[in-house]
Amino acid sequence: MSRVLLHVSDLHFGRVPEGMAGALLAAAREIRPDVVVVSGDLTQRARVVEFEQARAFLDQLEFPTLVIPGNHDVPLYNPYGRFIQRLARYRRLITDDLTPSYIDDEVAIVGVNTARSLTWKGGRINARQVAQVRSELCELPAAVTRVIVTHHPYGVARLALRAWSSCGADVLLCGHLHIAAAEILGRTVVVNAGTAISTRMRGQENSFNVVKVEKRESVKVEQYVWREKTFQITEKIAFAKMGGEWRKLATYEHE
Ligand SMILES: [Fe+2]
Ligand SMILES: [Fe+2]
Repeated sequence: MSRVLLHVSDLHFGRVPEGMAGALLAAAREIRPDVVVVSGDLTQRARVVEFEQARAFLDQLEFPTLVIPGNHDVPLYNPYGRFIQRLARYRRLITDDLTPSYIDDEVAIVGVNTARSLTWKGGRINARQVAQVRSELCELPAAVTRVIVTHHPYGVARLALRAWSSCGADVLLCGHLHIAAAEILGRTVVVNAGTAISTRMRGQENSFNVVKVEKRESVKVEQYVWREKTFQITEKIAFAKMGGEWRKLATYEHE
């Protein structure tokens, strides 16, 4: 048995060109994922209209969806907003669940909110969150592939990953950098997604990942990049678990 996860990030509604959301929806319909994971930054400036666009996008996805917020989903310019409202708009228009999870007999996906703190750029994770996720992972059956979702990658990841890997964290899905990548960090496969549909590109085209997990033995990451007005697979990266450790097998260039 395997599961197909569609990992999209940093949608940044407010900075999405005409037609891009539709192109991503069309790609999703073709891929037919078991779960769509959205790893934060749904909006550009946490405006109501941007959350409404993000909501409309999510409503059109016909698959189970797990969403966590990013730093851009916390209002920046309202001097009181970050303290009083923080994620109020996100909670009202996207989801009130800030610790979402999806669990079946093949895969467990646990979302962690790293955008909740007062640190706007860095993001934070606290000891309680680390412990909570760790106990969730430890309780799972051995055959279930463990996937964690955060918006912020490094810094957040290094400390937390050490704790989580003791309960077998297999994959971390994250965003924020707007750069697609898949590497082993510690004992975990860390998969970063680019900005799926916004103009906030950092030297890379728009992209998203399809992550295929199988029997807790194999993780395959397919990077889809926006080229010639369509999303195309440009790279496939394969990981396998050998002797209890994840190993990167190969990167295949895709013509
Ligand atoms: Fe972002
Ligand atoms: Fe971000």
